[in-house]
Amino acid sequence: MRNEWIKIASLDELNTYFQETPSLVLDIEQDGSTFSVLLIKADGEFHALENRCSHDNAGMETAKLLDGRFLQCPRHGAKFDIHSGNAVSMPAKAPIKKYPLKEEDALLFIQLN
Ligand code: FES
Repeated sequence: MRNEWIKIASLDELNTYFQETPSLVLDIEQDGSTFSVLLIKADGEFHALENRCSHDNAGMETAKLLDGRFLQCPRHGAKFDIHSGNAVSMPAKAPIKKYPLKEEDALLFIQLN
């Protein structure tokens, strides 16, 4: 369903998890499709991005987070701004999708469409 907010988890659970690691891959089902989402926490803020590099479809689960803002693809090194999904260095030119998130009642929600 378009514009549906999907619950990810409680903020307590996520904050505990993110004490150990900077990112988490989520496979979320919606309308018969599976979306692979990379959830990142940087500077106390959550960001959700498509878990697929726009250059050559590499998974981003082992991407490095540089300067708390730029995600570096593990395959060829393109960098993406986690605030926008925009490619900021070659070889990628196209952005990766950034998904809206909202916090409500101590829960984190995502919107996939
Ligand atoms: S697949 Fe990511 S930079 Fe090439």
